Amino acid sequence: MQTIGQLDPLRSAVAALRGDGPIALVPTMGALHQGHLSLIREARARAAHVIVSIFVNPRQFGPSEDLATYPRPIEADSALLEAEGVSLLWLPDPAAMYPAGYATTVSVSGVADNLCGAARPGHFEGVATVVTKLFNQVGPDMAFFGEKDWQQLAVIRRMARDLDLVQPAAPAIYGVATVREKDGLALSSRNAYLSPSERANAASLPRAMRSAIAAIAAGAPYRDALETLRQTLLAAGFSSLDYAEVRDADTLALREAPHPDPARLFVAARIGKTRLIDNMALIAPA
Ligand code: PAF
Repeated sequence: MQTIGQLDPLRSAVAALRGDGPIALVPTMGALHQGHLSLIREARARAAHVIVSIFVNPRQFGPSEDLATYPRPIEADSALLEAEGVSLLWLPDPAAMYPAGYATTVSVSGVADNLCGAARPGHFEGVATVVTKLFNQVGPDMAFFGEKDWQQLAVIRRMARDLDLVQPAAPAIYGVATVREKDGLALSSRNAYLSPSERANAASLPRAMRSAIAAIAAGAPYRDALETLRQTLLAAGFSSLDYAEVRDADTLALREAPHPDPARLFVAARIGKTRLIDNMALIAPA
């Protein structure tokens, strides 16, 4: 595996790989776990070469968020990528990514406005900006993102369609199913922040979500099912919820009652100092 930190050598290396067939990009912020590895395996199944980027993007963190403490285990990450058969690790320097005088932001409206877009102002502008730059730097034929960050995937799909970003003309953005621990907790680099007791309580999140989905499938009004979910999480040690909402799976329009289009339950909740997010499909009415 080549590890490259500067743009010119990256472009030469990608040009050399391109002759072998399609190139897949898996953008990450590092602190890799099985969820990332499932993206890489999916990418390897479809492309001749997989390029993984690791870049803790300062522009998607709010002023009071965890940019300084975000885990950066680069040696362990690099060993995992090597073992997965990744061809190239793109490890850009923050100063090269956003040099002095940098002044451009990519902003997506609609799908980026609600849920984490409302709770974390500027977050999706940071994501859309860095993903645009990563796509332009690498020029991938396809790119892979986790469904754990469903709204991020929706924002990137919208942006790629709107800006004709991916080569060739047809966007090839793949979403890969969330990987979960045995107790149902979705894998996330931020799970490392949880103390042992918080980690045990965190499993209430997927459990309460499954119960809410079952209640809705059995005919409970959305409002009642979501209120029960909220109370369950607060009783289980979560301190607050940013949101617990049902939204259209594609447009992210709010759903307050059954609707024929596929919908998902989205939750962001805080336990200790950690903010956890998750989303799950509603069960289609029989
Ligand atoms: O999901 C992530 O890890 C990040 O938001 C991404 C897509 C790598 C952009 O920084």
